[in-house]
Amino acid sequence: MTAPASVVTLAGIGSYVPETVLTNAELAARVETSDEWITSRTGIRERRIASPDQAASDLGAEAARRALADAGVQAAEVDLIITATLSPDTVFPSTACLIQHQIGASRAWCFDIQAACSGFLYALDVAHQHLLTGRARTALVIGTEKLSAVTDWEDRTTCVLFGDAAGAAVLRAGGPGRGLMTTILGSDGSLGDLLMIPGGGSRRPTSAETLRNREHYIRMKGREVFKHAVTNMTQAAKEAIAASGLHHDDIAWVVPHQANARIIQAIAQRLELPQEKVFMNVQRYGNTSAASVGLALDELARSGRLRAGDNVVLVAFGGGFTWGASVLEWSRP
Ligand code: UT7
Repeated sequence: MTAPASVVTLAGIGSYVPETVLTNAELAARVETSDEWITSRTGIRERRIASPDQAASDLGAEAARRALADAGVQAAEVDLIITATLSPDTVFPSTACLIQHQIGASRAWCFDIQAACSGFLYALDVAHQHLLTGRARTALVIGTEKLSAVTDWEDRTTCVLFGDAAGAAVLRAGGPGRGLMTTILGSDGSLGDLLMIPGGGSRRPTSAETLRNREHYIRMKGREVFKHAVTNMTQAAKEAIAASGLHHDDIAWVVPHQANARIIQAIAQRLELPQEKVFMNVQRYGNTSAASVGLALDELARSGRLRAGDNVVLVAFGGGFTWGASVLEWSRP
């Protein structure tokens, strides 16, 4: 335990996507769909698919190494690793423990968070609180998904949406500017069955029947999820901006969870922000669940369009339902 911190900053960011690209045209050869349908309904043009020997921890470890290098921090300095994933290597041990071993962060204590596509923001907030209280001085937050392993490749309503990726951030106590300001989180468990993997848990343990029913894959009532995603992400972002003492004009960038271009456009409109301030890369990676916010923030940072002092809103929505929004001041050039 060290002294409490008044400021926590994002000291480094990194991401990793597998090399293999799966295009809409290739999907149209597998299920009854078309590039036109996928592009017009979702904005997605292609997604990345991990190789058979890569699991979520492998993608996450590579993103973590890149975030540590970006921060100039050694793995041995990390006190805490929190991994958000809905496609863990194994039910246990946690993917965070597996990543710890891969990157050699032997001092860290490690655990996973399950908040589906909102997981990165949930993990960010938990790490933030640990750093504020002085329980840790350096934390690694990782969102990693091998969704291709839990996607039903015979279900056209879902298989066109998802991709594999990882995003990671290094959080440190102290630093210039305000750093991480406010995070708003919310959940509604009454709507959990609209987006879930029904089989393979203690409710429906894996059996010949659950496998036959394809219950070990993601199921989603897309149209209903869409409405809740827009409403809750907009509300959470507004609350987080106001709680940070800011106005929507003060926001340089919104980095939303990347599920659907139409959702992202709807959020921009409702937040009264021009589309150019709302980062989008769903066209290249599809929906990568807990990985998407870290991946998007890393791409934005590497594009050179983020400036020191920029106020950035991260916002996400996912299964549970869960949602969240964080406001931070970007502190690096
Ligand atoms: O990441 C966590 C949160 N997830 C989300 O935020 C996802 C939210 N939902 C969505 O992004 C959209 O609802 C989808 C992209 C999943 C679906 O788009 P939609 O405009 O809501 O379409 P829909 O589900 O209402 O389906 C419209 C039609 C249906 O046919 P009928 O019933 O109108 O004859 C579907 O069967 O499109 C059909 N359809 C397809 N057609 C061609 C569904 N999937 C496909 C497909 N290709 N891949």
